[in-house]
Amino acid sequence: MANPFPHSMDFAGHNEPMRIECDIYDLVVEGEIPAEIDGVWYRSIPDPQYAPLHGDDVFISGDGMVNAITFENGHADYKLRYIMTERLKNDRAARRSLHGKYRNPFTDDPSVQGKDRGVYNTTPIVHGGRLFALKEDNVAMELDPFTLETKGRFNFGGLLKSQTMTAHTRTDFDTGELFAFGYEAGGLATKDVAYFIADKDGNLIHEEWFEAPYVAMMHDFVVTKEHAVFPIMPTTTDLERLKQGVPHWAWDHSKSTYVGIMPRKGKVSDMLWFEGPPCFSYHMMNAFTEGSRVHMDLCVADMNMFPFIMGAGGYEYNPMNANGRLARWTFDLAAYDSSKKNTWQETVIGPGGDMPRVADKDHMKDYEIGYMAVFDPRIGPPILSGPTPAGFNALLRLNVKTGEIRAWSQPNTTLQEPVHIKSRQSGHEGYLAVVCDLHETNTAQVLLFSASEIEKGPIARLHIPMRQRCAVHGMWVPAEALRK
Ligand SMILES: [Fe+2]
Repeated sequence: MANPFPHSMDFAGHNEPMRIECDIYDLVVEGEIPAEIDGVWYRSIPDPQYAPLHGDDVFISGDGMVNAITFENGHADYKLRYIMTERLKNDRAARRSLHGKYRNPFTDDPSVQGKDRGVYNTTPIVHGGRLFALKEDNVAMELDPFTLETKGRFNFGGLLKSQTMTAHTRTDFDTGELFAFGYEAGGLATKDVAYFIADKDGNLIHEEWFEAPYVAMMHDFVVTKEHAVFPIMPTTTDLERLKQGVPHWAWDHSKSTYVGIMPRKGKVSDMLWFEGPPCFSYHMMNAFTEGSRVHMDLCVADMNMFPFIMGAGGYEYNPMNANGRLARWTFDLAAYDSSKKNTWQETVIGPGGDMPRVADKDHMKDYEIGYMAVFDPRIGPPILSGPTPAGFNALLRLNVKTGEIRAWSQPNTTLQEPVHIKSRQSGHEGYLAVVCDLHETNTAQVLLFSASEIEKGPIARLHIPMRQRCAVHGMWVPAEALRK
């Protein structure tokens, strides 16, 4: 039978859907997994059960799967499950997709109008001992952290007023508090943004709303020990656009970038708004407050790097013109003058790339070491993997204070998002794990590095005997953070 999925970037070649749920007990290991690594690496993967209703769609619309790679005593087990969403159940009952374009309910089959079309495919998080799968267009979906069985939608027992919750929550690993926001919080294409906080046990302790300068894709935000920072960047939409039956977003180069900063436990009425040129960032590496100054380190480019979003705004996809870089934006709150346009200072601190990480102990604080994935054209032509035309092929360890870079790469492979795993040994920088796609054999490996010396190559390779559809984000959860 012919592949029913379209021969497009998002569904062909390495991006062809897998649609496989499985368990692999004891992955074959080359090298040695340090016995101190004890916990679960959860990853979210978009993997559509059915071909798109309207002929084509985008990678990030796929039904959510969650992958758990459990490390214990030098061994690792692998589990992959679909999230049994209302959407997937309805599609399976019909044996075809009833859902249309990316984040556009106006394009759905009439039989599912008004039903939950959420796929929860972006980030798994564990908070208060409970596992949730997140995507920014919906509230959370709770899963069993051990079996990955779907438990149901979660909105803090109905207490959360926001209709949405970011997939990029920020945990204060010293206090256990969870900081989050939802955009389009009051409904489709609204400017409402909800900012909310849960305590270490998972209780909602704060929710307050503000209005963004315009409706924007607010994919990530940062929190420091003192401040919450909300970037508003010109990837935008409106109801009229959605009624035309197109994907949710378009790039609008005519709009400014705004950054709102408020005390993290303050009121949204205390928000100070800064304004700068149009640019886009999916992910921030870290942020910290230093006196009256707030520093935010982000992977930023001069436009949105998703081809379908750039194209919808009338721009041609050209990554070479996008000026991707790791930048530090510094906001001086003491110099803020409400009678003027206030902006920020940018310092480039690293190359273009994405999927930035820091160790949990460094989150929200002044720090030295970050990790990220980059595309290095010197080791071969671009290879498709994931939602952008070129998968990452190199891993970087960057000292943001000295500029020192240590890197590792391997030809004919792509690398998914790395995760940092803490060590229990004092003075040890911990480990990095990354899923490496082996395109020559259509298989994959989990690579495990000693984080301080990634340039020496992996200390262990865990063999996965099948292709892996590209995950979006993951979270490392130490065993002690899971209630047993
Ligand atoms: Fe993200």
